[in-house]
Amino acid sequence: MTGSRDLAPGRFAPARRLLGTWLLALVALGAAGSGLAQADEPAGDPAEGRKVAGTCRTCHGLEGYAKIPIAPHIGGEPAAYIEHQLDAFRAGTRTHEMMSVVAAGLSDKQIADVAAWYASQSTQVALPAGKSEDDAPELCVACHGAEGLSQLPDAPNLAGETVMYIDTQLKAFRSGKRTHEIMTEIAADLKDEEIRTLAEWYANVKLTIPPVR
Ligand code: HEC
Ligand code: HEC
Repeated sequence: MTGSRDLAPGRFAPARRLLGTWLLALVALGAAGSGLAQADEPAGDPAEGRKVAGTCRTCHGLEGYAKIPIAPHIGGEPAAYIEHQLDAFRAGTRTHEMMSVVAAGLSDKQIADVAAWYASQSTQVALPAGKSEDDAPELCVACHGAEGLSQLPDAPNLAGETVMYIDTQLKAFRSGKRTHEIMTEIAADLKDEEIRTLAEWYANVKLTIPPVR
């Protein structure tokens, strides 16, 4: 796993040219989004959300550290991201045999509360020995950070997710099974080996989420 060489500048040149445009668009979206959030979406209540998380813990853990390899770690992710994904599963714009069923049963308030609960968990990350932030995939760090911690309210953490999970999601964006204005375009250009290398970079970050009782 010699990630840094494979991800040298230039490999992703066409996608990188678009990145500046996306970032500008995102800043605009973020500004509009936060205005809407204040008007329409009262912040969730983490204490109420903890009760909802009782139905999530077999797969995601009560603190959001996943118990099964196909489920992602969600503890410490931005509340807006968690809410947005649960809305998407409920609406059917993102589908998964387990999550579509889970989300169908949640009210808006439960979604806001459980998002607030998981978002309130703290995360610690550590790069593997011998790696530095400079080795991180250049095309991803603006939004996902070198260590896989989200830099935007609507982007997920990738730190410590399994290779299988990251690989599955990037291929879902590439095939159109999952869609997103930015990730669809980024994934469209990625080859299987590149997906593997990117997934390994973030999977190799050690993620710690202190357990709660
Ligand atoms: C039976 C196992 C299971 C249960 C129970 C479950 N999940 Fe999931 N969850 C998954 C799997 C598997 C995925 C990955 C879906 C995919 O591949 O698209 C997922 C994905 C998610 C995501 C998307 C995360 C991301 O990084 O994109 C969120 C948010 C989420 N679950 C929240 C919840 C919440 C909140 C609950 C409880 C109300 C819950 N889940 C219950 C298995 C489960
Ligand atoms: C300009 C910002 C931006 C860049 C650059 C970017 N992403 Fe993303 N990424 C996002 C956003 C926003 C989402 C959430 C998509 C959604 O809502 O479905 C996301 C979602 C993902 C997911 C799904 C994770 C999950 O928990 O379900 C993966 C995997 C991912 N990105 C990997 C990458 C990789 C690898 C790169 C670099 C090649 C990259 N991204 C570059 C913004 C970005």
